[in-house]
Amino acid sequence: MKKITIKKILEKKNKQPIACLTAYSKVTAQIADKYCDIILVGDSLGMVLYGMKNTKQVKLQTMIDHAKTVKKFARKSLVVVDMPYRTYTNKFTAYKNAKNVIKKTKCDAVKLEGGSEITKTIGYLVKRGIPVMGHIGLLPQTTNKFLFKGKNLSQKKKILKDAVEVDKSGAFAIVMECLVQDLAKEITKKVSIPTIGIGASKHCDGQILVIDDMLGLGDFFPKFVKKYSNLKKIMENSVKKYVKEVKQRQFPTIKNIYK
Ligand code: KIV
Repeated sequence: MKKITIKKILEKKNKQPIACLTAYSKVTAQIADKYCDIILVGDSLGMVLYGMKNTKQVKLQTMIDHAKTVKKFARKSLVVVDMPYRTYTNKFTAYKNAKNVIKKTKCDAVKLEGGSEITKTIGYLVKRGIPVMGHIGLLPQTTNKFLFKGKNLSQKKKILKDAVEVDKSGAFAIVMECLVQDLAKEITKKVSIPTIGIGASKHCDGQILVIDDMLGLGDFFPKFVKKYSNLKKIMENSVKKYVKEVKQRQFPTIKNIYK
């Protein structure tokens, strides 16, 4: 099993689609690692695992704890860790925190949300040896409205500028969240690095989804999510059956006891 490097990810642009998923735990890391090119320890864990209403309250230490576990069980994929809200407010804070994340988790890269306003920070980290994945379009850490982007001209121009500047700053890939397909297509053609879409159409170099969403574990499914499974229903049925069997003294059976 050959480790996927940033060089290999860059080489996939315009050649092979890049498959990415989030993972936060041992099991999700083990499964995603078998098939994905990139695993993101996303700060979406705040909402998905901890029931927070957004990602703003996610702590750096929480990201470090989950990223350590994911890295331990992801042997092949490139593992990227989200820097949570307010942990990269300027380039010095960003470097101190990102260096700490990489040192403690041994992950391969960090992800920062934002466009032109954070490109100096991205450049500062990259020059000091910390690989960065960008994230433009809908920015969950700072938005109040979860709406798709790029329909009106001024928004389109701003996002296009963000993409070009994130590329120039030295990021090795850009997540593009909730973009209209024409804009996603234009950016993918224009930038030199792979674009990874989430709600940004098939015209991206790769795709990412939150693993709990595609497995059907969530409560809310945006249009861009395809449910590949309905694990929540499967889990519920299993729990229901177990409780029924306990109440009816059907469990444990002879197979489950010690003599
Ligand atoms: O936190 C996350 O899971 C993300 C993905 C939605 C790209 O940033």
